[in-house]
Amino acid sequence: MEKRQELYKGKAKTVYATDDAQRLIMHYRDDVSAFDGAKLAKLEGKGETNNRINAWVMGKLAAAGVPTHFVALLNERESLVKAMKMVPVECVVRNVCAGSMAKRYGIAEGTKLAEPIFEFFLKSDALHDPLCNEDHIRVLGWATPREIDEMKAITHRVNAVLKPLFAGAGIDLVDYKLEFGHPADDPQGPLVLGDEFTPDGCRLWDATTGEKLDKDRFRRDLGGVIEHYREVARRIGVPL
Ligand code: TMP
Ligand code: ASP
Repeated sequence: MEKRQELYKGKAKTVYATDDAQRLIMHYRDDVSAFDGAKLAKLEGKGETNNRINAWVMGKLAAAGVPTHFVALLNERESLVKAMKMVPVECVVRNVCAGSMAKRYGIAEGTKLAEPIFEFFLKSDALHDPLCNEDHIRVLGWATPREIDEMKAITHRVNAVLKPLFAGAGIDLVDYKLEFGHPADDPQGPLVLGDEFTPDGCRLWDATTGEKLDKDRFRRDLGGVIEHYREVARRIGVPL
């Protein structure tokens, strides 16, 4: 497998073509960004840490029967994934009220939710990822009713798999964001989990102290961002 030209540079990852049209290389950079690109920095070692945490999570999800784009860990900063046509919405599940939900409804951060809450957001930095509902998605053509059902079902399923895994490591899975797409080799088939699952796109709190172990450390200038990402890796048993 040969690495070819750069296809897309996101806020934290760069995607490269390969000699196989069905496979891409995802390169995890040290860049960290928040508030839709308004706050940017470089954190040494973040790329390697996130690449490895993501590979571990994707492996656990695949083992539990969740379809993902992940193919293989290639090296410290790169993973091989299936080429996908992505749906332009973000899927969030929350177990505990935090972040934008706490702000939107005036509810204290840390309020436990009786059951997980699902939210859709339109993927658009320019519009600051606005919250949207199933009617917006269907009527405006961002996804079909079948795709909406699949995204909701898989995102909840991911919670059922990951919440106990993190709990076993003394970590509360507060919320997380997932993105989905259709693999290039099966464009009409069921949706597959794409993008990543790392401390950049979820909230992880120490189950005893409530200490934040995720990107809120960067958003809120709490310091020790990478040290805490590495602590997550250590606790779940990811070798760094
Ligand atoms: P929020 O509280 O800002 O709506 O975010 C909920 C969770 O989803 C949080 O863990 C961060 C993650 N998320 C992203 O990583 N990127 C996004 O664009 C959005 C909207 C959420
Ligand atoms: N909206 C998310 C955040 O505030 C993602 C991002 O903008 O990078 O962190």
